[in-house]
Amino acid sequence: MRNIYLIGFMGAGKSMIARALVKKTGAESAEMDELIERQQGMAITEIFQKYGEEHFRNLETELLRSLAEKTDLIVSCGGGSVLRDENAALMKENGCIVLLTAAPETIYERVKDSKNRPVLNGNMNVAYIRELMEKRRARYEAVADIRIATDGKDADTICEEILAQPCCGR
Ligand code: S3P
Repeated sequence: MRNIYLIGFMGAGKSMIARALVKKTGAESAEMDELIERQQGMAITEIFQKYGEEHFRNLETELLRSLAEKTDLIVSCGGGSVLRDENAALMKENGCIVLLTAAPETIYERVKDSKNRPVLNGNMNVAYIRELMEKRRARYEAVADIRIATDGKDADTICEEILAQPCCGR
């Protein structure tokens, strides 16, 4: 089975849906942020602080290269990982890219207490989330094979929608 790459803005539900898909399908999960934190032995915020965003983006690319060699993974991607062409190409070649979307208000409610989202540091509000989301929207849309709105839906419904897609079927 080809990998499933869940993409979308922070708080779109990628990790939660990845866990639900793993339960339903028995596939293996790969949570990018978690894997990077484990490899580096520090939190995402600390990586950004110590080495900068570019370094973090390089770590994402390295990780995606190694994940692309595997099959049958449910990959929960970092929200900014598809911004690089190489990363999006790696995902496209090896799997199906599923974009999860949610309204800025929904995103805010999900991430407002997070201390580990450096991109939103000092800007934890709906207006900033909406603005950054708008900046990224075209990119997310262009890269995705499938788009799924998550507002008001439970995890089961979202998983069914994903698994009903021919490129994601298990
Ligand atoms: C980022 C999203 C985060 C994490 C990092 C940068 C982004 O992942 O990779 O803080 O640029 O959107 P989540 O989408 O899992 O929060």
